[in-house]
Amino acid sequence: MTGIDGGRGGFGPRQSEGETNLSERRRRWVARRLDAGARALVREDARHFVHQAISTPCLNAVRKAEGIWIEDVQGRRFMDFHGNNVHQIGYGHPRLIAALKRQFDELTFAPRRFTCEPAVALARRLAAIAPGRLGKVLMAPGGSEAIEMALKLARAATGRFKTVSFWDAFHGAGFGAAAVGGEQLFRSGAVGPLLPGTEHVAPFTCYRCPYGYPDEDGRPRLDLCRMVCADFVRYVLEKEGDVAAVVAEPIRAVPYVPPPGFWKAVRAACDAHGALLIFDEIPTGLGRTGRMFACQHDGVVPDILVLGKGLGGAALPVAAMVCRRDLDVVGDYAIGHYTHEKNPLLARAALTTIEIIEDEGLVERAARLGARALARLEDMKARHPLIGDVRGKGLLLGIDLVGDRAAKTPAPEAAEGVLYRALDRGLSFKVSMGSVLNLSPPLIIAEADLDRALDILETCVAEEEAHLFTARAGRVRRARSGSRQRPRSPR
Ligand SMILES: Cc1ncc(COP(=O)(O)O)c(C=O)c1O
Repeated sequence: MTGIDGGRGGFGPRQSEGETNLSERRRRWVARRLDAGARALVREDARHFVHQAISTPCLNAVRKAEGIWIEDVQGRRFMDFHGNNVHQIGYGHPRLIAALKRQFDELTFAPRRFTCEPAVALARRLAAIAPGRLGKVLMAPGGSEAIEMALKLARAATGRFKTVSFWDAFHGAGFGAAAVGGEQLFRSGAVGPLLPGTEHVAPFTCYRCPYGYPDEDGRPRLDLCRMVCADFVRYVLEKEGDVAAVVAEPIRAVPYVPPPGFWKAVRAACDAHGALLIFDEIPTGLGRTGRMFACQHDGVVPDILVLGKGLGGAALPVAAMVCRRDLDVVGDYAIGHYTHEKNPLLARAALTTIEIIEDEGLVERAARLGARALARLEDMKARHPLIGDVRGKGLLLGIDLVGDRAAKTPAPEAAEGVLYRALDRGLSFKVSMGSVLNLSPPLIIAEADLDRALDILETCVAEEEAHLFTARAGRVRRARSGSRQRPRSPR
């Protein structure tokens, strides 16, 4: 049995947002599809790197990445709808490469005690594009570190230490980030204990409401649930009474989009109970969802905004925390004293990436292409019973596969099946929460390529569906003929 438990038959930690790298099906794909050279490289990688769920052992080896494409060492090309969400501007954008080459010639590092022009320009630009009146910036080498800077700042500003965040969320692998995260893989068993005071609540997940309320075609029945998920955040803030911050992705990267009004309600609860609101926009920021920042869909401004991933233009590791000006309160302490804090190359990468996103109209493009793609996914759902739900915003889309539409039974085997079939046809994406096909293409994608990717997906879903339902019919037939042949028990 493979699936959300990573093929461990239920004994290992459960996987959630990440995708299993331990399943039998993956091992079979590697054995069949990689040639001797690629297999040797993947084997060598596994020999030298520490193994961990989600990353090592690897699936394959890449030798080139350009635009929306990655090319493996055998020369096969895949449209990359995964890209760890770093590739808003695609891979190797010529303008970014040229800017970095110039920067390499000018200045490659700013040692402690020195600032530099690109770092200052980046801070100014981030303050300009951030929502509301967020205006002070701190850079970090990765998302996890930036989240932890935000946690420290929230503690310092409020004099409190507790947080409220969502189960199943991922906020990074550091001790602090994993503590506010809600994934078993990163917080249980081997690595504990983490930070104290990190309260968790069930997330908005309208298609599979953890509070048991029904949905209507993936949308919440607000008349019934009355947005209990937002109310529960308020409840915990009230009962604890001394929470420093609520930490969350405004749109979950799975993806899951909050019910309308969710963030307004949580913002009001934070304000009522003296808690800050920290938005982790590491995967959703910089245009991915069809607004520069996902929180802008709801018109809610956080106190601290955290960015990462695509900020480095699919080239370099850059993350940032952007906070309210009046939260600049830790002058006597150090909350993000990173060696590469003001590295001019990293700053140039971020600055140029933002310029490309703005100049090429990638935010509007994500909104337009995303709406078209979502309509096409709705259409697919109408034809394929394997698809239980389709959802998303902009070019962050998801297809939730189910074995049974009425029961919404997740179909992790089918999700893996669709993935490997799609890889064979030149499309790569991530499987999230076991059964969600997570589609996150570069925002520069041509309409024709997006259409082709959706064609591939539909073909693969249809094939997997036929495979699944044929196998199921066979089981039913065998069970029926077995029961007919079984000797009657004596009366
Ligand atoms: C929502 C979210 N927060 C934080 C992180 C951590 O970022 P990094 O891997 O750069 O530490 C990730 C990375 O996947 C993420 O998706």
